[in-house]
Amino acid sequence: MAMRVVRTIADLRALIRTIREQGHRIGFVPTMGFLHEGHGALIRQSAARCDATVVSIFVNPTQFGPGEDLANYPRDLERDQGLCLETGATVLFMPEVSEIYPTGFQTHVEPGRLAEPLCGRFRPGHFRGVATVVAKLLHMVQPDLAFFGQKDYQQAVVIRRMVRDLNLPVDVVVVPTVRDGDGLALSSRNAYLAPGDRERALALSQGLLAAKAAFDAGERRTQPLLDLARGPLGRVDQMQYLELVDAQTLEPLDGVVDRSAALCVAAFVGTTRLIDNVLLTPSVEAGPGPQNHPRP
Ligand code: PAF
Repeated sequence: MAMRVVRTIADLRALIRTIREQGHRIGFVPTMGFLHEGHGALIRQSAARCDATVVSIFVNPTQFGPGEDLANYPRDLERDQGLCLETGATVLFMPEVSEIYPTGFQTHVEPGRLAEPLCGRFRPGHFRGVATVVAKLLHMVQPDLAFFGQKDYQQAVVIRRMVRDLNLPVDVVVVPTVRDGDGLALSSRNAYLAPGDRERALALSQGLLAAKAAFDAGERRTQPLLDLARGPLGRVDQMQYLELVDAQTLEPLDGVVDRSAALCVAAFVGTTRLIDNVLLTPSVEAGPGPQNHPRP
C-alpha cells in the first residue's frame, strides 16, 4: 500500500473512514518526529499486526515546560518520511500546531497520581500535555492498537491508565526499548550529544543493565540493585532521579523486589536530558512478554 501524507484532521478522518470501510485493522504510532530505529520498531510492529498503520509527527507544545527544548527540538521531515515508508506506515499525519490547538483551545486531560513521581517531579505539566494530545490523536485516528516505546515508561503507564479511565476503545502496546550497540537507548535527543558526551551518556544504560544482570542472577534486595545502577552515574553532569518503583503504581519499592518493578533514571549529560529504564520481573510473574508491561 502506498503511503498517504495528510495535514488536516478532516483529510485524516476521511482516509480513516475509507480504511474502516475496507474492514481494515488500524495501528497508530504517535511521534514527535526526528525518527530513529526505536520508532521504526513501533511502526514495524504495528505493520505486522494491523492492516494499516498511521504515524503522526507533531511536536506537541503543551508537553514542553518553560526553558525546555521546544524551539530547538530536532526536525528532519524528509528523513522521517523515508523511515515511515521503509518500515511500513500507510498514513503519515503531520498537522500544524493551529490544527491541533486552534485559537480558543482550553480543554485538557489531567492525569492523576501516576504523573506525579519520576519525570513528573521535574517536568510539571508534562504528562498533562502528553495525555491531552494523545487523547486527541486517539479520537482522530480511532486505532485498534496504539504503540508506545518502553523508553518513556512513565508515559506508557500514564497513557494506559488514561485509556482505561476514559474508556477509549484502543489497546495500548508497549514495545521494548531499542538500544545502540553500546547500550545507549535510542532517543531523538541523542542528536544533541557532543561526541565526548555520548561516551558519558552510556553511564545510564551501563548502570541499569548491570542492575538488571544482577537481578537476573537472583539479587532481589533493592539497595544493592540501586547501588549497581548508581555506580557509573558519577560521569553525568546532573542526576535528576534514580528510582526502583512498582511497575504498575510507580510507587518506590523498599527492601526487596517481590513484584514487577521498573528501575528508572533521568540525568543531564551536558545540556541534554536523558531518561532510561529497565524492567525487573520476578520469574514467577513472568507472563506473556515485555510488550504487555505496563498494566496499571
Ligand atoms: O513520546 C512521544 O514522542 C510523545 O510524548 C508523544 C507520545 C508523541 C505525544 O506527543
